[in-house]
Amino acid sequence: MKRATAQSMRNAFGAECAAHMRYLLFSDQAAFENFPNIARLFRALAFSEKVHASSHYRQTKELLGEYCVNFSAPFILNRTVDNLTKAFESEKEESEEYYQPLAAGARSQGEMHAAQSFEWLAQVEKAHSDMVRRALDALEHAAEDPEIGELYVCDICGLVMEEKPPENCPVCRAKQFRFRLIE
Ligand SMILES: [Fe+2]
Ligand SMILES: [Fe+2]
Repeated sequence: MKRATAQSMRNAFGAECAAHMRYLLFSDQAAFENFPNIARLFRALAFSEKVHASSHYRQTKELLGEYCVNFSAPFILNRTVDNLTKAFESEKEESEEYYQPLAAGARSQGEMHAAQSFEWLAQVEKAHSDMVRRALDALEHAAEDPEIGELYVCDICGLVMEEKPPENCPVCRAKQFRFRLIE
């Protein structure tokens, strides 16, 4: 892997670690407000971001060492309705303004493996933003914990599905057994 691509991966690792922890905090806040389904949705997102961070970390293993990482992340912890709003915005932005350009950059450098990984993540973060948007709309409409079905997360690409997963992950083609049910 080229040095610049590895540094992009490390930066993305930092952003994903922050997102993982932020969603655990959002989950606790939702549980506190008596929104157990939203709390579970945030746990699913937190696990997905852990999958992303792990993937970035493993892919840079040829170039281990000490590095500074650089990423921007929202630092907010408000009411659940605000946390969902911020989550929606940041997932959409991550997909369109972060992973899509990284994928294009890696592809132009001939780094096809990294490009595919970034492309998968662009798709997964987009799916996150759609899912968060639905939960937010439902919460704003009814002011109570929305119905959310069983949530499964692919432990290869982090895709979150609100239905029993198909034989192969729609994003990364991993086999069905790679999906984890989120309690
Ligand atoms: Fe992510
Ligand atoms: Fe997947």
